[in-house]
Amino acid sequence: MTYDVAALRDRFPALRDGTAYFDGPGGTQVPDAVARAVADTMTRGISNRGRVTAAERAADGVVVAFRDAVADLLGADAATVVLGRSATALTYDLSRTLAADWAPGDEVVVTRLDHDANIRPWVQAAARAGASVRWVDFDVSTGELSPDAVAAQLSGRTRLVALTGASNLIGTRPDVRAVADLVHAAGALLHVDGVHLTAHAPVDLADLGVDTYVWSPYKLLGPHCGVLVGRRALLERLRPDKLLPSSDAVPERFELGTLPYELMAGTTAALDVVAGLAPPASDGSPATRTRRQALLAAMAAVEQHEDRLRERIEDGLAELPGVTVHSRARRRTPTLLLTFAGLDAADAYRSLAAIGVNAPAGSFYAIEASRHLGLGDTGGLRVGLSPYSDDADVDRLLEGLRAFTRGVTRRR
Ligand SMILES: Cc1ncc(COP(=O)(O)O)c(C=O)c1O
Repeated sequence: MTYDVAALRDRFPALRDGTAYFDGPGGTQVPDAVARAVADTMTRGISNRGRVTAAERAADGVVVAFRDAVADLLGADAATVVLGRSATALTYDLSRTLAADWAPGDEVVVTRLDHDANIRPWVQAAARAGASVRWVDFDVSTGELSPDAVAAQLSGRTRLVALTGASNLIGTRPDVRAVADLVHAAGALLHVDGVHLTAHAPVDLADLGVDTYVWSPYKLLGPHCGVLVGRRALLERLRPDKLLPSSDAVPERFELGTLPYELMAGTTAALDVVAGLAPPASDGSPATRTRRQALLAAMAAVEQHEDRLRERIEDGLAELPGVTVHSRARRRTPTLLLTFAGLDAADAYRSLAAIGVNAPAGSFYAIEASRHLGLGDTGGLRVGLSPYSDDADVDRLLEGLRAFTRGVTRRR
């Protein structure tokens, strides 16, 4: 069961100009409630966190609400939800902290399916520690990254495996649980980049079996910031660089400087919008359902809605001459990477933009994946679906691509 997409779209001021946004994998549009929560947090009486003044308590309340909301989204322990500037910044910080006890002879495993944010921080940290890096490839013909391919790179010296929950370039969703079991049997840690996955599917960190996980709220209707969560016992053990007077509690130990309360409030508001997409509970009463249950049901509905639109796009593309769809894995997000025989994907991007259809071309920082696919650093045209995408958007995309492959750019 899905949700009322038209009612959802009404909540996005950005959608009123008629643009069809297929660039959600780069960051989604934002509902009015999120912008309002950001503004309200900046205009109410608020100061640094504390319990004495009302303004201090307001800041504290924002932080607690944020951690609870993210914990509900991911099935995480709220006391392990860390706010950071971006997933990239959080991964860099974590890599430096973990690498503090890596030594020459230790090994770190990264994959060619990943966004560079889950490759370079580990490669650079390994180089500084004198540890070596082992690479896992995905199968270009199927788009799959198999647990066996990860197993082949594990050894008694593996300290950490960094894996994406889903590729932001071709949508592949590796079997994270199977990889987690292999990694743990080898005595190593599994860090998962959940930035793309979290925007498209229900997530349960305990089911996935990860040790640490990052996500970026701006990929799912929220503001620009990043989140790290991890197993509590692990976070308690880690000793990141921090200022002497700042809290040494977890998760504050990992949060450098004063928190952006407005972005935290915006994230909570975004997750409340998402939770509101849940179909009615089986007994018809929303009151009996926790927000965690609502978020799981909502993300299942988002997945179903986006998969239906993805299939419509794939059917339409199959009728176009010379189009290669590189997104082929059995389990994948609704993120399609396209190239065109004899035509430049960057021209498709410009041609679609001229009719108000936003689908950018590039390799989107998944540069190893793009090179491995034989697309160099140029990549292809990325068509990504979001919770607010609708059939009319898909019609316009397909019409634009039909015109492009015929060599014609039609104006709306
Ligand atoms: C899969 C994936 N990982 C990591 C990132 C980086 O996220 P951030 O901008 O929060 O650093 C992105 C952003 O596009 C992404 O798609």
